[in-house]
Amino acid sequence: MIKHNEVDRSFDCKPTLTDSQVLEFCHNGFLVLKGVVDDETNQLTCAYLNGEIPSNPSFIPKSLTNEDLDRIRNSHEPSTLLLERWFIKNVLLNSQLAGALRSLLGKNVGLPVLVSRHTTECPSPTQGWHHDADHIFGPELNFLEVFYYPQDTPEKMGPTEVVPGSHITRTHREAEDKGVSAAGPAGTLSIHSQSILHRKGESTATGTRHMIKYDYWRTVPPQRDWIVEPNFDFQKAHYGHHGTARYIAHMFYWLCGKGEEYRIIGGQGWPWSSVNQIGPSYGFAKTEGYLPNWRKNNSDDYAS
Ligand SMILES: [Fe+2]
Repeated sequence: MIKHNEVDRSFDCKPTLTDSQVLEFCHNGFLVLKGVVDDETNQLTCAYLNGEIPSNPSFIPKSLTNEDLDRIRNSHEPSTLLLERWFIKNVLLNSQLAGALRSLLGKNVGLPVLVSRHTTECPSPTQGWHHDADHIFGPELNFLEVFYYPQDTPEKMGPTEVVPGSHITRTHREAEDKGVSAAGPAGTLSIHSQSILHRKGESTATGTRHMIKYDYWRTVPPQRDWIVEPNFDFQKAHYGHHGTARYIAHMFYWLCGKGEEYRIIGGQGWPWSSVNQIGPSYGFAKTEGYLPNWRKNNSDDYAS
């Protein structure tokens, strides 16, 4: 059951991800929900983007006029779609999506205010690998991007490719290097950390490919209020390898509301571990130690 607060444009519902799934998101930086939006809604979305159906906003925000709505709908950011009742109910508040977002962003998730339209005429070449503008590397997860594919988007239609784990630091890939593709049937929703390295894939088919993207926002401090696994062990969980485990564990601790307590001692100490150890890693639950250096010498123009 999803509670939609139309006054402050937020929603709440039961979280659907477990400790292990939240940690998995920290590892990968993305999560794909294949074909979760119904066909009628997918077709309505394509028709809306093609200008084939009239607008019918469920309300008109106070600051906007009808002329504004027309301008916005016909721009490369057709955010008026966020006002259509059918889109709110079946896409923005899609139950599988909502449960995952509620798990990662906490209660009262803020709904999107801006739509970016990524319509491509296929065939088209691959885009260069990039981190999106204004990304920040850090343990925080204050918002998430969602990509919505309202039509079948197999490999030949050039779905977005991502590099798993590249949300934690500046990452370089050559054009010929492949990533993991978000290929899927119509109605696929892909949830991303905004910092992840990605690109539009090469398309070899012919036709128009629609994809739209928008952000959901955290409105409450993080806490571990998703589905708690009784046997989840913070000391023994797998956080990754040398050079990555420290970041993934930090992000997971931040999501648990324990980012302030997080300290590490380095080397083979926790959160690093090997499957061939005969006992748990040393260094767990230290109150003194180090924090990972997320910022390095990043050229993204944010001070540490
Ligand atoms: Fe991008």
